[in-house]
Amino acid sequence: MLTYDSHIQTEVFSPHLPVFFLHAFPVNRKMWQPQMTFLREKRMDFVAFDYPGFGDSPLPENDLSIEDYGEYAYRLLKELGMDQAIFVGLSMGGYIALALYRRHPEIFRGLLLANTKAAADTEEGRQGRYKMIDYLKRTHDLSPLFRFHLSKFFSRETKEKNRQLIGQVKSLMEEASQEGIIRAHRAMAERADSTDLLSEMNFPVWVIAGEEDEISTVEEAQGIAEKLPQGKLHIIPNAAHLSNLEQPEAFNKIMWEYVEKVKEGV
Ligand code: MLT
Repeated sequence: MLTYDSHIQTEVFSPHLPVFFLHAFPVNRKMWQPQMTFLREKRMDFVAFDYPGFGDSPLPENDLSIEDYGEYAYRLLKELGMDQAIFVGLSMGGYIALALYRRHPEIFRGLLLANTKAAADTEEGRQGRYKMIDYLKRTHDLSPLFRFHLSKFFSRETKEKNRQLIGQVKSLMEEASQEGIIRAHRAMAERADSTDLLSEMNFPVWVIAGEEDEISTVEEAQGIAEKLPQGKLHIIPNAAHLSNLEQPEAFNKIMWEYVEKVKEGV
């Protein structure tokens, strides 16, 4: 029988390498439900949190930059006692992942960028966001913003056949506070261009695009993958912007292949 001896010197190997999810705008951590269920079955650690002002997270007092959202992720990882993670960021989550990498590259064991861009907003895109912020402040009417995103988030097939999913995503949007939405919109409008970082990422980074995504196009994803020294592009058919929800099986298959590759250190 083994008894506990407090003088025994211990070396602990804790294989806590979580998948760390960064969600899209204007939804919340629950958008990762199909991936969280999948990873739970695989007994793989994961972390998913709501940005301030989204889902169940309260709003902070000050304005936020994209880097600040990254700092929330950084502090959370450290509070959980974890040193590194495999980051999975979709759209705004990808913008945050890249900003996080600029400040804290040492916490990255892997990165999966889905339906996102490395470039900053175009001037036209930025002005569009400011216009929307003005409108929201004047009217408190979130419906045009929700309508716009719902019209771009899904493929033709999803719009025809999966009204239930669209309803679920609308409910996630309704969990965001107006102020949270305004701050995130401003942070995205003013985010820096992260294209220069891509060539520095000398580890396998995989990129996922939705074949019908009009917000972050296949061409943009191709451009990212080409600049990454070890980039690999996956295009998911019958998916637009929320590819992880529209085609969860295809998304999970790519994600798991990537996780196994990272864990093996190949
Ligand atoms: C998102 O899905 O996070 C947003 O559509 C990104 C954006 O507005 O640029």
